Amino acid sequence: MFEEYTNGNLPNLKEMVAKNYAQIDLSQEPEVRGVGILTSGGDAPGMNATIRAVVRAGTKAGFKMMGVTRGYHGLWKGEVKELGHRDVSETLQRGGTFLMTARSKSFETPAGVLQGAKMCKVFSIDCLVVVGGDGSFKGARDLARIGIPVIGIPGTIDNDVACTEYTIGYDTAMNTAMEAIDKLRDTASSHERCSVIEVMGRHAGYIALNVGIATGAEIILLPEVPWDMKEVIKTILDCRNKGKRHYIVIVAEGAGDATEIAKKIEDATEIESRPTILGHLQRGGSPTLRDRTMASLMGVRAIECIKDKRLNRLVVYRHGEITDVDIEEGLAMKKSISLDEVERSKLLS
Ligand code: F6P
Repeated sequence: MFEEYTNGNLPNLKEMVAKNYAQIDLSQEPEVRGVGILTSGGDAPGMNATIRAVVRAGTKAGFKMMGVTRGYHGLWKGEVKELGHRDVSETLQRGGTFLMTARSKSFETPAGVLQGAKMCKVFSIDCLVVVGGDGSFKGARDLARIGIPVIGIPGTIDNDVACTEYTIGYDTAMNTAMEAIDKLRDTASSHERCSVIEVMGRHAGYIALNVGIATGAEIILLPEVPWDMKEVIKTILDCRNKGKRHYIVIVAEGAGDATEIAKKIEDATEIESRPTILGHLQRGGSPTLRDRTMASLMGVRAIECIKDKRLNRLVVYRHGEITDVDIEEGLAMKKSISLDEVERSKLLS
């Protein structure tokens, strides 16, 4: 029944809802009784702490709390279960997300969004809390546009959501990468080698820049800042001329390929060079204190928004406090890496 819409545009969704789901009433301010929560996109340490906070604050506020498994994919299929206070015990310190997550292509189509809205109605989810990054928030925004109230909580290791200065999982991922790089430094120094380490971040260099500063990297390559292989080689040779005998190069995954860069360094300098791709180990592990507290307080803020009938908001961290912004406005914002910090990092190696 949805095929005719799969190539359509989302702004027509209200019409489609009216045609397909007369039971979705868009005319009235909804009374929230049931609140659903799902985690979407890449998992991030602290997502469990977020679910725990939303469920506990939600039940205390008198809402019926429901967990949706496997992100939007699970919503689509109606994978919904009630969650009480005790169902989230012993989750605060655990990595991953016990609700599981998925990258759901189906939700990028109008038909997928409609099916999600239908499932919210079927399970009496009057407001859906979505924990994830920008892509997940776009799905939430599309639901909001057709009358399903939503609240977003930023959860991604990349810290690349424009409207917030912090995303849950970022601190843990950086600490995990830092510990791994400290170990790589030990072996690079023993063998007088160059270690080229690729860190995650998709199209953003926040993890790479901070981890590079924290590990004293000689070179940090970011997707936001153009770089040149000749300069990389020159910096390494300058370091060698000053007496350095091992070298750390951090590459953000969006900036280049660690294996290729290591080979070019070795060919040009004859310094043995080894690539390491840290990969998904950066997404696992028990969340740090910062991620646990951020997750907990952002989760409570989400429920405060629902109680106060401030719906279709994104919970954010701005100017040192947890607050919230309109979802449409939040998604329209842009953020960029601090070029001042990039320049300062170059003075430290
Ligand atoms: O968004 C989080 C992230 O870990 C990115 O840093 C990375 O590019 C991507 O997810 C990897 O995605 P997947 O786990 O689907 O391979």
